[in-house]
Amino acid sequence: MSHVFHRQLGHDYPVAVRGEGIEIVDRDGRRYIDASGGAAVSCLGHSHPRVVEAIEAQLEKLPYAHTSFFTSEPSEALADVLVAGAPEGIDRVYFVSGGSEAMEAALKMARQYFLEIGQPARRHFVARWQSYHGNTLGALATGGNRWRRQQFEPLLVDVAHVSPCYPYRGKEPGESDEAYVGRLAAELEATVQELGPETVIAFVAEPVVGATMGAVPAVPGYFQAVREVCDRHGMLLILDEVMCGMGRTGTLFACEQDGVRPDLVTIAKGLGAGYQPIGATLVSRAILEAIRDGSGFFQHGHTYMAHPMACAAGLAVQRAIAEEQLLGRVKIRGARLHAMLEDRFGEHPHVGEVRGRGLFQGIELIADRASKQPFAPEHRLHARIKAEAMARGLLCYPAGGTIDGRRGDHVLLAPPFIVTDDDLDRIVDRLGQAVEGAIEQVSRAAA
Ligand SMILES: Cc1ncc(COP(=O)(O)O)c(C=O)c1O
Repeated sequence: MSHVFHRQLGHDYPVAVRGEGIEIVDRDGRRYIDASGGAAVSCLGHSHPRVVEAIEAQLEKLPYAHTSFFTSEPSEALADVLVAGAPEGIDRVYFVSGGSEAMEAALKMARQYFLEIGQPARRHFVARWQSYHGNTLGALATGGNRWRRQQFEPLLVDVAHVSPCYPYRGKEPGESDEAYVGRLAAELEATVQELGPETVIAFVAEPVVGATMGAVPAVPGYFQAVREVCDRHGMLLILDEVMCGMGRTGTLFACEQDGVRPDLVTIAKGLGAGYQPIGATLVSRAILEAIRDGSGFFQHGHTYMAHPMACAAGLAVQRAIAEEQLLGRVKIRGARLHAMLEDRFGEHPHVGEVRGRGLFQGIELIADRASKQPFAPEHRLHARIKAEAMARGLLCYPAGGTIDGRRGDHVLLAPPFIVTDDDLDRIVDRLGQAVEGAIEQVSRAAA
């Protein structure tokens, strides 16, 4: 009997014992293609020799030094690399141990920024429905997934939510991108007006929505429009690139492709590629200067922040991505994966949309194509697809509640950047079989 408090307490998990390239091997010798990088984490696969070497070297030199006493070589070097590749205006990196911590730091830093510049009335955040920003209380409150929020609702700080940019379901028939963007920007403006513009800290969004919607990028012009609303009211723009950042979409930061400048941007998963737990909040010069020239101290911190081993891993990962020119591969293989998914599912009666950017692709499942009606949530189609895929040696990331936290199913794919064309063939083939198998089960159950 296991004493580990597993995610699903009634479930029997296979024991993962080895990682080889894009595959994970369990104790019984079964091999699984990791087509979702876990949860968009393992961007270099599971056994990259240079990353392993860098971690071992750091372990030999110095495993840990507390950040209230010291800085460290790997954290300084990694911050240099990240700032050099970051959107314009980003100047500092606050290292933490994962995505939720990165979001908490961003929220608190944004609030402290306004205290430093003498605007203490600012206390509200605006975020979007159907987003996920993490499971700690601040991040959970910011997120807009009703299923994840509901039982903790009484503990959550009050965050206002607006509609996501979700063209498949949000756009009216015949509506242009421009008109849709105008409508979403007007909704944000109205929400800010309702809260009182002088009380709003920031607007928070994922440039490409991951876990809760399945790789949904914004339509062109959307992020410029929300940036304008933020600027008009002196609000900050916090972009959550925990999942979509660090090359996943073909550029180091997803927001580069949206042509928008964030004030704070969070990263995590692909930063350490799963070799070590690490996340970071990237901070604009204006925020840095306000805190540096004000109290001089960000009132926050964690024991393991800027952990030397984690930073050494992150540095090796980012160097590997640059030196092996993997972003170019993400673009090429991403386009190929998208085309293959279109080929396989484009006309499928139960797939409404294939979407995504780079090696961050999703499909949305539907019961009826014409009406876009989802499968009944009771069927848990997403869970069946996950199980069917695993039985075929494929790891993908399906989830339910795509539409409103309850209805809708999607599958997210986020394979390692080292994936080959042959791997993509196997991934799409197995995913196709898993989807058919799961839909067949649902049809039988419904009959
Ligand atoms: C966009 C986004 N933000 C934040 C998080 C939280 O990250 P973590 O699970 O590392 O705390 C996630 C995790 O899936 C995420 O996808």
